Amino acid sequence: NWKMSSFIEEQVQSIRERVGSSRVICGLSGGVDSSVTAALLFKAIGSQLSCIFVDNGLVRRGETEQVRKEFSEHFQTDLHVVDARDLFLNQLAGVTDPQQKRKIIGKVFIDVFREEAKSIKDAKFLAQGTLYPDVIESGANPDGPAATIKSHHNVGGLPAELGFELIEPLRDLFKDEVRRMGLELGLPEKLIWRHPFPGPGLAVRCLGDITAQRLETLRAVDAVFIEELEAAGLYREVQQAFAVLLPLQTVGVMGDARTYEDVVALRAVNTDNFMTADWSRLPFDFLQKVSNRVINSVRGVNRVVYDISSKPPSTIEWE
Ligand code: XMP
Repeated sequence: NWKMSSFIEEQVQSIRERVGSSRVICGLSGGVDSSVTAALLFKAIGSQLSCIFVDNGLVRRGETEQVRKEFSEHFQTDLHVVDARDLFLNQLAGVTDPQQKRKIIGKVFIDVFREEAKSIKDAKFLAQGTLYPDVIESGANPDGPAATIKSHHNVGGLPAELGFELIEPLRDLFKDEVRRMGLELGLPEKLIWRHPFPGPGLAVRCLGDITAQRLETLRAVDAVFIEELEAAGLYREVQQAFAVLLPLQTVGVMGDARTYEDVVALRAVNTDNFMTADWSRLPFDFLQKVSNRVINSVRGVNRVVYDISSKPPSTIEWE
């Protein structure tokens, strides 16, 4: 793609001119926007780039390893993976209110990020994967979902008080252009087509108490669902798909024994912009396969339900 490659060259030149010999920090979330930002920065300034990934213990299965593989092995950036799993878990102990969870996660994230950033000497710039739609929406309804997303915990939402100059090389781009840029820069298809994942991560999909064990159950179910979607060629037919762990037990039967175990919900949606969404009409046979696999392989789960609610009046996430 000639146009994209010349756009990349222009960006690379302007980043180099602006940065000079300074150091740039880029926060990675595991998502498309921050990954493309980091890959572009790496192309422009190589070893002057430091990446920070905060492992909050609320990510999907294999996510931390994938970030490490992509940004430490493939692109050999100065990658800082901060293991803050215990810190987040401790701060979230006993908290069940969704907005409270968000608040805590946002605050702890900034604290952890700030501390790690301090350890990186001579950093003057912070690179963020702000997209054109983010630029427009930040002026829109302050209570809308976009505002919620922006105000807390996207890696994109770090506060100005951190004291860095911002570099936002994706500011003029739409999502599809960001994807094309990512492919052109050599990021894997799988990452480029990754469904969006909320900043508070699995915390808002683990309804009720957040514990290491409940998160592990949720991660296992989610991994089965996503794997089966990929295997069936359905992953890219939906814009977001995930599992939700409910805070209740139901009765089941296993062999001759009665069980009393967790319920999980599967959610898959079709949407253009995430402001409205319809539930995906996944084939019944597919859903049956996922349900069987989940119940047979994930210990402590004896029931799977499928969410058939549209947004509005429901939201995409359950919390
Ligand atoms: P809802 O649930 O409001 O979600 O229909 C719309 C989109 O936003 C994502 N989402 C979030 N993203 N921080 C984020 O970074 C959040 O607190 C948050 N809440 C929801 C959600 O995954 C969906 O893509």
